[in-house]
Amino acid sequence: MPVRVPAAADLEPIERASRDALQSLQLERLRATLTRAYDNVAHYRATFDAHGVHPSDLKTLGDLAKFPFTSKRDLREHYPFGLFAVPREQLARVHASSGTTGKPTVVGYTKHDIEVWANLVARSIRAAGGRPGDMVHVAYGYGLFTGGLGAHYGAERAGCTVVPMSGGQTEKQVQMIVDLRPDIIMITPSYMQVVIEAFYKLGLDPSQTSLKVGIFGAEPWTEAMRRDIEVKAGIDAVDIYGLSELMGPGVASECIESKDGPTIWEDHFYPEIIDPVTGEVLPDGADGELVFTSLTKEAMPIVRYRTRDLTRLLAPTSRAFRRIGKIVGRSDDMLIIRGVNVFPTQIEEIVMQHARLCGQYQLVVTRDGLLDQIEVRCELHHTSDPVPEAETREIADWLRSRIKTLVGITTRVCVLPPDSIERTATGKARRVIDQRNLQPS
Ligand code: DLL
Repeated sequence: MPVRVPAAADLEPIERASRDALQSLQLERLRATLTRAYDNVAHYRATFDAHGVHPSDLKTLGDLAKFPFTSKRDLREHYPFGLFAVPREQLARVHASSGTTGKPTVVGYTKHDIEVWANLVARSIRAAGGRPGDMVHVAYGYGLFTGGLGAHYGAERAGCTVVPMSGGQTEKQVQMIVDLRPDIIMITPSYMQVVIEAFYKLGLDPSQTSLKVGIFGAEPWTEAMRRDIEVKAGIDAVDIYGLSELMGPGVASECIESKDGPTIWEDHFYPEIIDPVTGEVLPDGADGELVFTSLTKEAMPIVRYRTRDLTRLLAPTSRAFRRIGKIVGRSDDMLIIRGVNVFPTQIEEIVMQHARLCGQYQLVVTRDGLLDQIEVRCELHHTSDPVPEAETREIADWLRSRIKTLVGITTRVCVLPPDSIERTATGKARRVIDQRNLQPS
């Protein structure tokens, strides 16, 4: 049982509402969002008209399926401010995500949007067992990335003391955790592994800190990684989900008492699961692509945004709201290696099983003639003695054969010394390096 479970009396009334009450609020807010988008954003007016739909056609929640999707491409095409429903002067803040190709996407918030965001991250922190007076170490990157400032405002709103550490400076992270004695850490799971390794490197035991809870997100991570972090850091690890197009961190977040997938804050975001190929809406429980419509956003209302995240919708448990299952991966991160579909998280499950590996890994895909080759790079734990060459070879053989058996692909495996795999500025791991387009085929 987790150490900290919020009392029912500490939940907001909407978190305990009936499904009927929630759905009538959603319908009312959905109508307002569609109207706001249609009346104020030329792109939505044009696409709704082209589809022959009008906001007044929304009579039930199911009618949303008649409306067109919005994609990352739409955001890029209207770069930077073309999808905003308010004049630029009314924006209190912008953020941007870099993406891997092309222009960044810019998102914006009114003062009210920032309020709602802070409230929802505060709600997420409470769901994770956070309380006023707790100290929160924020190691998500501050800046254009939504992670740092999103977590920061939410932790302040929850009445916590914030340590605005940002990403990077790993040894300093360790020092701040040891000296300031925070209760909660907010950080990407892959960067938490780096911080844990830094504890070992400095001869410290990461399970003996003041930390009680970690709120991890911004990238896919597996149950195997959760268990590993919980044991090594001696904390409860919960999953926070979000994306900048919708808001940032805090679209959905896991409740510490159930740890059964992020609860979607459905009073502000309406989820659907679709078949990624046909676009058809699928029933709850089916695997597919997550699509979201914002319900309360002023600056950038977003209608049926295709997240590319693959998961399923699950029935409510600890709150009135539905949950999402673990994100299996992004459809654009899926590799097809000689006809086999591979997600980095499948490799992660296996890497996490070897006690000598620290859990950092990267997949490098190249093309040799007509055949795709995949190299799995992984890192050894920090240990006081160097690992003998023969043992490194044994680890590589073990990994290669487990991947062949469980995933069905042949790989080359490189077992690297600690700290070999590059870290990114946001703290999100770069799991796939696809070099196929760079090479003549
Ligand atoms: O990553 C916002 C965020 C910051 C969420 C801090 C949680 C914590 P973007 O940079 O726009 O925003 O990236 C959004 O990251 O579509 C998912 O593919 C992935 N992602 C975010 N949270 C999770 C999670 C932030 N908990 C993209 N599990 C999303 C799996 C996640 N993937």
